[in-house]
Amino acid sequence: MTAQLLVVGSANADLVVPAERRPSGGETVLGGDTETWPGGKGANTAVAAARLGADVALLGAVGDDAHGRLLLDSLHGSGVHTGLVRVVPRPTGLAFITVTPDGENSILVSPGANHALRPDDVASVVSEAKVAVVSMEIPLDTVERAINAAAASGTRTVLNLSPVAAVPAPTLAGVDVLLVNEHEAAWLLGSGAADGMVGTRELAGLLDLGPRAAVVTSGARGAVVVEQEGLTEVPTPAVEVVDTTGAGDAFAGALATALTRDAGLADAAASAVRVAALSVTRRGAQPSYPTAVELE
Ligand code: RIB
Ligand code: NA
Repeated sequence: MTAQLLVVGSANADLVVPAERRPSGGETVLGGDTETWPGGKGANTAVAAARLGADVALLGAVGDDAHGRLLLDSLHGSGVHTGLVRVVPRPTGLAFITVTPDGENSILVSPGANHALRPDDVASVVSEAKVAVVSMEIPLDTVERAINAAAASGTRTVLNLSPVAAVPAPTLAGVDVLLVNEHEAAWLLGSGAADGMVGTRELAGLLDLGPRAAVVTSGARGAVVVEQEGLTEVPTPAVEVVDTTGAGDAFAGALATALTRDAGLADAAASAVRVAALSVTRRGAQPSYPTAVELE
């Protein structure tokens, strides 16, 4: 089965607890009622793209349980092709998410079924897509195989390197667009800055790691597009932040959707900041993603 856009990545059920603050080690904090929502960086990206009208498939894995069905329902409901979502004998991935009143989140992921996604699952299908988005929370060798297969076949590859991890140099060299947030960029650049931040001009150093281009998101400050020809700053509209969970995945889905429509990278990033900005004004990840019509 071929889709123009293929997303390779995780699917998790998000167990979201609102709390005044997050507990530290050895501490117990009472939060509000838990809500369970479909999430996971891969599934989120695919749903964000489908809502914008992309022809998109998810390559992923869920368990044969209620959380897996929640995810499949959300994917179907948004129009994501699910023929490549395997149902495996492990629990569906879970994300334990704390959201504080400032809209900030912290996430503990239990990958479960996501770890059943093996390199052999990805190689042939990746090469059939026009654009592939590969995200983390799945085994690193699967990420590597997906990128290498995409690079070998001319599929344009976006690596959403979140959570950030050491990806071998030859694999990064096969990436067309490296997508990271400012903290992940700082980590990759080995920034010694105490706040883990890097200056905008230093972001050009990301290309030395191998990708053809990079896009660095920085929340309320928008995004920076890093290309051989130079840097482009993409501002984001000011919005009231309710919940930032999955905003990066919304960005990835919107960026990739624009790339399947042959947009230039800066234009793709400009549409992606708008989608991400809308997503943070609503609770949850997938439920907060806008449709093309809402974006108008
Ligand atoms: O990026 C947000 C996502 O991270 C959540 O939906 C959660 O499942 C984790 O994968
Ligand atoms: Na949201």
